[in-house]
Amino acid sequence: MSNRYAIILAAGKGTRMKSKLYKVLHPVCGKAMVDHVLTQVEAIQPDEIITIVGHGAELVKERLGERSNYALQAEQLGTGHAVMQASQQLEGKTGTTIVLSGDTPLLSAETLQQLFTFHEENQTAVTVLTAHAEDPTGYGRIIRDENNHVVKIVEQKDANAKEAAVQEINTGTYCFDNALLFDALSQITTDNAQGEYYLTDALEILKNANHKVAAFQMTDFEESLGVNDRVALEKASQIMRKRINRQHMLNGVTFVDANSTYIEADVQIGSDTVIEAGVVLKGQTKIGEDCLITAHSEIVDSIIEDHVTIKQSVVEESHVRKFADVGPFAHLRPQADIGEKVHIGNFVEVKKATIGEGTKVGHLTYVGDATLGKDINVGCGTVFVNYDGKNKHHTVIGDHSFIGSGTNIIAPVTMAPNSATAAGSTITEDISEHTLAIARARQVNKLNLAKKIPYFE
Ligand code: UD1
Ligand code: MG
Repeated sequence: MSNRYAIILAAGKGTRMKSKLYKVLHPVCGKAMVDHVLTQVEAIQPDEIITIVGHGAELVKERLGERSNYALQAEQLGTGHAVMQASQQLEGKTGTTIVLSGDTPLLSAETLQQLFTFHEENQTAVTVLTAHAEDPTGYGRIIRDENNHVVKIVEQKDANAKEAAVQEINTGTYCFDNALLFDALSQITTDNAQGEYYLTDALEILKNANHKVAAFQMTDFEESLGVNDRVALEKASQIMRKRINRQHMLNGVTFVDANSTYIEADVQIGSDTVIEAGVVLKGQTKIGEDCLITAHSEIVDSIIEDHVTIKQSVVEESHVRKFADVGPFAHLRPQADIGEKVHIGNFVEVKKATIGEGTKVGHLTYVGDATLGKDINVGCGTVFVNYDGKNKHHTVIGDHSFIGSGTNIIAPVTMAPNSATAAGSTITEDISEHTLAIARARQVNKLNLAKKIPYFE
């Protein structure tokens, strides 16, 4: 096998997106389009990958990091001009160069591998990856001669009526003989409707110089979708979503309704976990085996261990350990660490707090900036008063403690293990072991005074 190089074109602004965000950075299922392309390219293990950056160069580089080398295209003069920017790194090398667009996020590594194999077996100067489109609008058309040999690619804006009617389209992906690629690029002109250096012209140039050019037609048009506007972006997201969900199902995850379940590209889910309708799983979320995630839960950048139930809750940047259950209607905010077998009930909010094994926080409670031990019972309506308007303060509750309903714990406070608060207390001081803190006014009953309340008038 000869050396393999890859060039990803990602310098365009993406005018048709009408966006402040550069086109290739628009996410499809939570991952930038250009990242999807790079991920598939990585799978075929080229010797060198070069991403052409221009608009938003720094942001693209930041996103892809050291996974790629870069060449800068300072002015966007067309796809052919973009490839020329890699000449410093690649010109003069022998091998095969695959060129891809950063705006075709659905292309799979399998297809890229097939293209490479076809190209190398047929020893062509260039092989263009094509697809049959029901509606070819916007794509370059593949023009073949009477013997069905490819002769050139004509852009939509340059096509005559006959050419425009062709339904075989250029996916914007090609394998080139590296040396011939740079030869051909030096001959490209801007003599076309858009006044740009078209990479597509390289094919006709090579053909005219009697080199072998070919097309490899893929069977699945969907995979070749080029995203130039928001309509195509939404379409790409739909297709990607189906693909992601299907893969999880094949891995042993049950979906109640995959059509209404939104799972981003990097999410991992263990087998025998059940995902109900309307669930949204985002970012670097990892869910274990045998979990139940009920309808309309949203989980972002969190770790959910095995045997956990999350009922209609929002979980962000949190860790939920084995056999815990959360919700319904709970909100775990960043740095909530929910221990094994912990119960977090309805209308409970947890932020930057560690909750030890077996502890129960059943109802209507806010736990913020706190460390709770094991087997604690937190009564209904407890508030960890962590904020004085300027600073956040920390609370520590020891193992086996009991917090009466309606307790306000004004941090910083430490409750020793096996201590308790009486319901309705406002706690401002530390509590020692086996101590019950009562911090509420005594009840006074005033006979016959109820009638003074307007209600009884
Ligand atoms: C291109 C192809 C078209 C093909 C389609 C497939 C050309 C001339 N046309 O059209 O035949 O059917 O892709 O999706 O190649 N870019 C740069 N620098 C530039 C211009 C573009 O890096 O100066 C990058 C863009 O960021 C993008 C890619 O090249 O990722 C393709 O450019 P785009 O403008 O989307 O080309 P299309 O009109 O889609
Ligand atoms: Mg495009």
